[in-house]
Formats: sequence, C-alpha cells, structure tokens
Amino acid sequence: MNWLTVDKVHKFEGQQVELRGWIANRRSSGKIRFLHLRDGHGIIQCVVTKDQTSAEVFDLSDRIPYESSVVIRGIAKKEPRSPIGYEISVTDMEMLFEAEEYPIAKKDHGVGFLMDHRHLWLRSSKQHALLKLRSQITRTARTFFDDLGFISIEAPVLTPTACEGTTSLFEVAYFDRSAYLTQSGQLYGEAAAMALGQIYVHGPTFRAEKSKTRRHLTEFWMIEPEMAFWEFDETIDLAEQLIGKIVEDSLEKSRDELKILERDTSFLEKIKPPFPRITYSEAVDLLKGKGVEFNWGDDFGADEESVLSESFDKPLFVTRYPADVKAFYMKRDPHDPRLALAVDLLAPEGYGEIIGGGQREDSLEQLEHRIEQHGLDREPLQWYLDLRRYGSVPHAGFGLGIERTVTWIAGIHHVRETIPFPRLMDRLYP
Ligand code: 4AD
Ligand code: MG
Repeated sequence: MNWLTVDKVHKFEGQQVELRGWIANRRSSGKIRFLHLRDGHGIIQCVVTKDQTSAEVFDLSDRIPYESSVVIRGIAKKEPRSPIGYEISVTDMEMLFEAEEYPIAKKDHGVGFLMDHRHLWLRSSKQHALLKLRSQITRTARTFFDDLGFISIEAPVLTPTACEGTTSLFEVAYFDRSAYLTQSGQLYGEAAAMALGQIYVHGPTFRAEKSKTRRHLTEFWMIEPEMAFWEFDETIDLAEQLIGKIVEDSLEKSRDELKILERDTSFLEKIKPPFPRITYSEAVDLLKGKGVEFNWGDDFGADEESVLSESFDKPLFVTRYPADVKAFYMKRDPHDPRLALAVDLLAPEGYGEIIGGGQREDSLEQLEHRIEQHGLDREPLQWYLDLRRYGSVPHAGFGLGIERTVTWIAGIHHVRETIPFPRLMDRLYP
C-alpha cells in the first residue's frame, strides 16, 4: 500500500501524502474549497486553494458529487480546530468514479428508508462507530477465551433438530428431507467439550421469532463457551469475568466510538465484578414488591426483565428458573427438582437478557425422559445421547448474544443497528 490512511496522517506532518477515499462533504468559502475525505479509518478536511492546485482540480472540488471516489495528494498540516488535529493542503486530486446523486441526504430519514439503504447507510459516522464497536467486542470475547486456553470450534448451521424449542425453527429443504437452521451451537459444543475440554463456538444462529421487538433478530451471532467438568457457580463466575472484560475493553479501546454514539459512559464505568446474583424466586418477589403482577412459574418477558434490570446499576444474574420454562437439556437443581440450574444475565438500564446458559443434564436416563417430556424426536438426538453413554461428566456453558451486548454497551435503542445487515421478521433486504 503506497498511500496513507487518515488515522496515520499525524505521523507525516509537513510531508507530501496520498490518501484514497470518498467525498463525505463539500463546501466553499470565498476562494477556498473544503472537502471532507472519508476512508474508513477516519474523516479529514482537505483544503483546496487556487494557488496550490491546477484550475481543473479547483473546478472539480467545486462540483464533485458526494460519495465520489478519489485520490487526493497534498501536504499534511497541523490544524488545532480539526477533530483529528490535522488537515490536508491539496496539491492534486483525481476522481476515480463520479457518484450518482447520493440517496442519503444530511436531513433526517425514517428508519425504513435507511434500512432499505443499509448498504450505503453503513458509511455514516454512527453506523461506522457501531460496526467498529461490534468488531472490538467480538475480538475481546474471543481473546478472553483464547487466553484461557479454550479451543474455538465451529458448529453446523444446517441441523437435523431443535436446540431451543420447536416454535422458532427455520425449516429448509435439504434434498429429499428437511433441515433446520441452527438456533444455538450448544449441543455440538457439548460434543466438542467432551473431546477438547473447554471450547467455544462463535457463529450465526437463527430463530423464526414472530416478535417485532427492539431485542429480537431472526439471525444473530452468539459466543458459546462449553466446559467439561465445570459446574453451575463457576460458570456464572466465568460469565461475570467475560462481561467485566468486555466493559473494560470497550471503555478503553472504543472510547472514540462511544463518543460518536454519545454514550453516557458513567453507567459503564460502574460495571465491575462482582455482579448481584438472585434466584428466580427472589426475582419474582422483587417484581411483586414493585407492584408487577406475576405468577411464579411463568417466564419473564421483556417488561419484567426491564423492571428487574432497572433495579440494579450492574448486570444482574438470575438463577434457578422453573425447569418448565427452560430447554430440555437443563440439569435439575438437586435441592429442588422444580428448578433448573439455569442462569440468565440481565444487562442494566433496562436492556434485558444478554446471556443465557447453565449446567447440562449429565444423566442418560434423565435426559431421555426430558426429550420425551418436551415432545422432541429422539432419533436425531441419538448422537447427543451418546455423550451421556460414553463417559458422561458434569458440564456447563452459556451463550452471549453479540448484538444485544453491543446494543447495551452502545446505549442505543434497537438491536437492528448492531449487525451489518439485520434480518428481522419483515426485513430480508438488502
Ligand atoms: O438464552 P438463549 O436462547 O440460550 C441458548 O441458545 C443456549 N443454547 C446458549 C448456551 O447455553 N450455549 O440465547 C442466548 C443469548 C440470549 O441471552 C440473547 O443475548 C441472544 O442469545 N438471543 C438473541 N439475540 C437477538 N435476537 C434474538 N432473537 C435472540 N435470541 C437470543
Ligand atoms: Mg434465554
């Protein structure tokens, strides 16, 4: 690469540099033209004057359409008024491709319009910041497990059966039979943990959710650790350390992005382990104490989760849910068979669940019974039962939803802007 990116300009003060990018803005003031060059690494002001450039370049800088692609050459200069401290005094500019009239104007557009132009909307500062934050959070989570010696494994996307219940399965034609898009890599993660000890699956997951809420996508990404010989409480400790690290890294490494997103970071600065842990039954009492009508045994919906998570200024672990509201693979609480060793982590500020997990049923007999109880087909799960037939061990894990985590860290309202190309019940384009 024999040109510079905007983030490196400060190293070349006073020198001739070449930059490549797109025209993000253009204005003129008297005999000076100002172009904002965006190159994915930043935005820099480029100043065009008649005496520094040819008449053609000066003329082009007056009419070049927004989002045209260009090569700009000039001198890197210190400029205290610039947000990045530097600007370019242009000596030459080449237009690579002239852009047609750009559909996204500076004025406010509705979300529907912006989502229809998602492929272009990604170029705006806020969307750019969200994607960078997402990339940083993903990297932090993966590095966290890599550093602990966990092995990264891939689970299949096409699967023969449900993991999280049959109501939200996407069915696809698979030659002469049906397959389902995976709802979670967990079951395969369990098999891998029996081979490799401690592993994590990082991949896309799919749910045919008919709910149009600000927390639901039909395609989202999870990081799912699974640990042989680990039990319930130490699994919660692991989730706590992971979230602590994600917040710490975001405050440090994504400071600029959080600023662009206008995130009030004072909420995040308080997020240091340990986090409160309450049982489902205690959570029900808390809800009732706040005047929320709720029956023991029901699952928490978005409203209940919001009330619970707003009651604490740190993430909240809710443990030991009624087994009936959780998936078939959950191990029962040895002290109370009505309960499952399940844990959810609710993010603060009303953001709700970002992690779900727990200890897995390790008894073959119990698991066979659960599969029957949940009305699941046993045949496609024979391989999973083998994990209990051949050296079953206590084991546990959880899934962290990337998009919900980014939504909370960014402090934005809706999960749809935290994934490059969101898939929602009513959105399959672009
Ligand atoms: O609680 P869930 O359903 O748990 C599982 O799938 C387990 N098998 C994970 C495991 O133990 N390995 O989903 C885990 C997380 C949720 O806490 C949430 O963050 C996210 O995945 N999630 C969604 N994110 C966006 N849109 C949806 N429709 C989501 N459903 C779950
Ligand atoms: Mg859950």
